[in-house]
Amino acid sequence: MKNALITGINGQDGSFLSELLLEKGYNVYGILRRKSVVDYGNVEHIKDKIHFIYADMTDVVSLINAMKISQADEVYNLAAQSFVATSWEQPIATAEIDAVGVTNMLEAIRTINPKCKYYQASTSEMFGKVQAIPQDENTPFYPRSPYGVAKLYGHWITKNYRESFGLFTCSGILFNHEGERRGKEFVTRKITDTVARIKLGVADCLELGNLDSKRDWGHSKDYVRAMWLMLQQDEPDDYVVATGVTRTVREFVDIAFKKAGIDIEFSGSGLDEIGKDKATGKVLVKINPKFFRPAEVELLLGTPKKAEEKLGWTREISFDEMVERMVQTDLALVRKEIEYAKL
Ligand code: GDD
Repeated sequence: MKNALITGINGQDGSFLSELLLEKGYNVYGILRRKSVVDYGNVEHIKDKIHFIYADMTDVVSLINAMKISQADEVYNLAAQSFVATSWEQPIATAEIDAVGVTNMLEAIRTINPKCKYYQASTSEMFGKVQAIPQDENTPFYPRSPYGVAKLYGHWITKNYRESFGLFTCSGILFNHEGERRGKEFVTRKITDTVARIKLGVADCLELGNLDSKRDWGHSKDYVRAMWLMLQQDEPDDYVVATGVTRTVREFVDIAFKKAGIDIEFSGSGLDEIGKDKATGKVLVKINPKFFRPAEVELLLGTPKKAEEKLGWTREISFDEMVERMVQTDLALVRKEIEYAKL
């Protein structure tokens, strides 16, 4: 029986990865940060099956302790300040967690068990102002946010510890991956949650920033399988995980509303663009400049060829199914909220 240690276990990816590893018979250890109220987040439903350890990416002593307690054979570093917009407001915290935190984790591994395999959650945000379309493992990086810059450090230090100390370290350059457990600050879940609220009559309008930005969106459940596969190979390496299809935020909005039975018609441009309900003429989508970023990543489109060929990785959840699942889940959650409010 293998031991796995997951940082960021209560996030979207942490929860899907925990489920996968438990299914495979792993002992799953998860790092939680101390808060005044215990927050199991997305692993609430399986919390009895997980061994929790309190630690923090910015405190190497706590990570050494986590390595000792877990006796981990595999570490998956999913902990991060992961919201790009916040990284302009908290650039130092973002760097301490997403950049230096990686070195802390790698040092803890090197100290306690240098044979332990390590997965680093790298990101397509590192491509930023893209230097080639589509992006693959050889595309040069050009990060556009403090988050992207911090993640790029994490990526390179992971590679460097592989080359310097022979550690088995892999970086997964994952493109956007979404799902029913996604935080509501990210655009996809913000859209599906608000669509559900509009449909059920408890919200009037969806306010967004840049509708033109394009993302390559897959489902988190598929992407955590790629993380695990990377650590089962004979040699450590870095892999892009993506769908190979890119869509605008506007397209996501359109499809999400359709899933709730509402047809949207867009008109106008720039800050004056609006989306109206075709049936009623009511404005359901507006632009709010507060959701624009100081520097934008305009287009991400990845090619998962290497992951498919070398890892045998395939996607099981299509884009359409993903949006459907997200909208249906949010409709059910909002219905429950409405019922609860009536009590
Ligand atoms: N969040 C948000 N809210 N984004 C908006 C909005 C809005 O109201 N309106 C437009 N957008 C645009 C953003 O400007 C961005 O171009 C795009 O929607 C996606 O934003 P997010 O969903 O916040 O994700 P992200 O692409 O910035 O970052 C995510 O993917 C990365 C991988 O490329 C995060 O999961 C990162 O942690 C991850 O590394």
